[in-house]
Amino acid sequence: MNRLQGKTALITGAARGIGATIAKAYIDEGANVAIADINLDAATKTAHDLGSCATAVYMDVCNKDSIDKAVQEVIKHFGGIDILINNAGVFDMAPILEISRESYDRIFEINVAGTLFTLQAVAQHMVNEKKPGKIINMASQAGRRGEALVGVYCATKAAVISLTQSAGLDLIKYGINVNAIAPGVVDGDHWDGVDALFAKYENRPIGEKKRLVGEAVPYGRMGTAEDLTGMAIFLANAESDYVVAQTFNVDGGNWMS
Ligand SMILES: NC(=O)c1ccc[n+]([C@@H]2O[C@H](COP(=O)([O-])OP(=O)(O)OC[C@H]3O[C@@H](n4cnc5c(N)ncnc54)[C@H](O)[C@@H]3O)[C@@H](O)[C@H]2O)c1
Repeated sequence: MNRLQGKTALITGAARGIGATIAKAYIDEGANVAIADINLDAATKTAHDLGSCATAVYMDVCNKDSIDKAVQEVIKHFGGIDILINNAGVFDMAPILEISRESYDRIFEINVAGTLFTLQAVAQHMVNEKKPGKIINMASQAGRRGEALVGVYCATKAAVISLTQSAGLDLIKYGINVNAIAPGVVDGDHWDGVDALFAKYENRPIGEKKRLVGEAVPYGRMGTAEDLTGMAIFLANAESDYVVAQTFNVDGGNWMS
């Protein structure tokens, strides 16, 4: 289909995982996509594999100059930005008594400040151009409630849900829809890292936590990045124009809200 024909999307953290899969789905819908990532080599390979509708751009979402430079680069390359997905995010885990300041600062910087200031830069471009736009933040089921070993990551994703509400309410007057997706447990490199941390803190064999969380999903398995593409396409096209400041669970039934 061509639901995103003529649109340009900037997706952060799109060198791999969920961002790369949504990039492919957007291109299949007719969009141009900027693969923005701190790992430029991986972003370049992903963009190459996706073909001429994709371009790689270096972006560190923790650095305002890097965000601004990347946004300008994408505007120059594709002529504008219609859709932003704030997808870059990192995970860490520790019991509350062992959380380090360093880990806290890093996760909040990438997951929260990165989301806010990338949103700000792209929204400013849309306002300047007097163009409507779509901004999609990647939250998580972890933002819906705390978890004993995942205090900081859960707090960052709760902050993403809250920022989605505030930005959604503030920016709709410019015709910019801000919404979020809250995935559940999505198989891939990210969850391999999560599994390794659970193995360490819960003294489990590698792979056991993944098997258990998959079995616990009402749908009957872990999610895949492809499970998220339908919602990502919906939130990026005109069908969602009347949807404002919401966070949608796409998690196989794990969470209800
Ligand atoms: N995988 C899951 O189970 C799951 C569940 C819920 C939410 N999420 C969220 O979805 C998003 C994508 O997850 P994923 O599974 O694809 O993760 P991933 O680890 O596979 O990919 C994350 C990407 O972000 C990039 N990145 C890291 N720091 C960056 C920075 N400072 N600037 C720019 N890019 C940076 C990495 O290089 C990587 O390419 C994240 O926000 C994550 O928190 C994932």
